[in-house]
Amino acid sequence: MNSAMEPVIDAEASAAEAGAPVIQIEDLRTQFGDVIVHENLNLTIQQGEIVSLVGGSGSGKTVLLRQMLGLTHPAHGTVHVFGEDINRIEALRLQQLRNRWGMLFQHGALFSALTVFDNVAQPMRELRVLPKELIRDAALLKLQMAGIGPEHALKMPADLSGGMIKRVGLARALALEPELLFLDEPTAGLDPSASESFVDLIRTLHEEMQLTVVMVTHDLDTLFALSTHVAVLADKHIITYCEPGNVVEFKHPFIETFFRGERGKRAIEAMPDPQENQPESAS
Ligand SMILES: Nc1ncnc2c1ncn2[C@@H]1O[C@H](COP(=O)(O)OP(=O)(O)OP(=O)(O)O)[C@@H](O)[C@H]1O
Ligand SMILES: [Mg+2]
Repeated sequence: MNSAMEPVIDAEASAAEAGAPVIQIEDLRTQFGDVIVHENLNLTIQQGEIVSLVGGSGSGKTVLLRQMLGLTHPAHGTVHVFGEDINRIEALRLQQLRNRWGMLFQHGALFSALTVFDNVAQPMRELRVLPKELIRDAALLKLQMAGIGPEHALKMPADLSGGMIKRVGLARALALEPELLFLDEPTAGLDPSASESFVDLIRTLHEEMQLTVVMVTHDLDTLFALSTHVAVLADKHIITYCEPGNVVEFKHPFIETFFRGERGKRAIEAMPDPQENQPESAS
């Protein structure tokens, strides 16, 4: 990693962060007018975890990611990221934290007036410290990591397929070499081989960079292939936070439908069986 890309962390921030979870949400309420989206929501994510956030459509998954990004604000409760209360820190400090995470939005959210290359280069240019050549090489590298060749670099977002937009969005999320990656439906709309490449990429980044990942997904293959933990959002809060193999033990209608339907059964059957190597109990 180039030292110019290392985030600047001051001593006070490091002190707040020492030993703290990467994300800690306590007693969160999110409210839009009379509509309460989250109530009494608690969630703690430790460094290096890959967390799949699942829940019904409209249950508040995207809004919960926005809370973690400081884009939506709590009606009650606190959200700490890297040990800091992101709703109570100064704008400058929040910007420093933002440089340490990357986000892939549900619908790509590229700048339509910028080329593929400029979309990925833009977060690096905003830092105002990186030389042009480094930005060029880093942007092309991030695109390549996300499966986009240099021949696409000068295309406009309107000329890309949905899957390509997603991959450019991922390249942009990786632009500042984040410690924390938020992904909203990263494999929706991708074909199976593109989904597998995505799984390989996240696994590699996780191993090499101890990346922490929070992803919203409906894709059970990706969920079981990658997650260290599953967080289930239902009834306005996280009803269970556990390892993927244990999630079906929690009794709830959403879990029943989501994990025990045909898709779920297939994905669970494809998992390695922890019982397989254990001696059978005497009968
Ligand atoms: N800015 C806003 N103002 C008012 N209501 C909002 C706003 N943003 C989200 N909501 C509402 O909050 C609820 C949760 O929305 P959210 O987008 O988080 O759902 P989701 O779980 O991500 O669903 P999906 O799986 O369909 O993406 C919805 O009822 C939505 O209409
Ligand atoms: Mg959503």
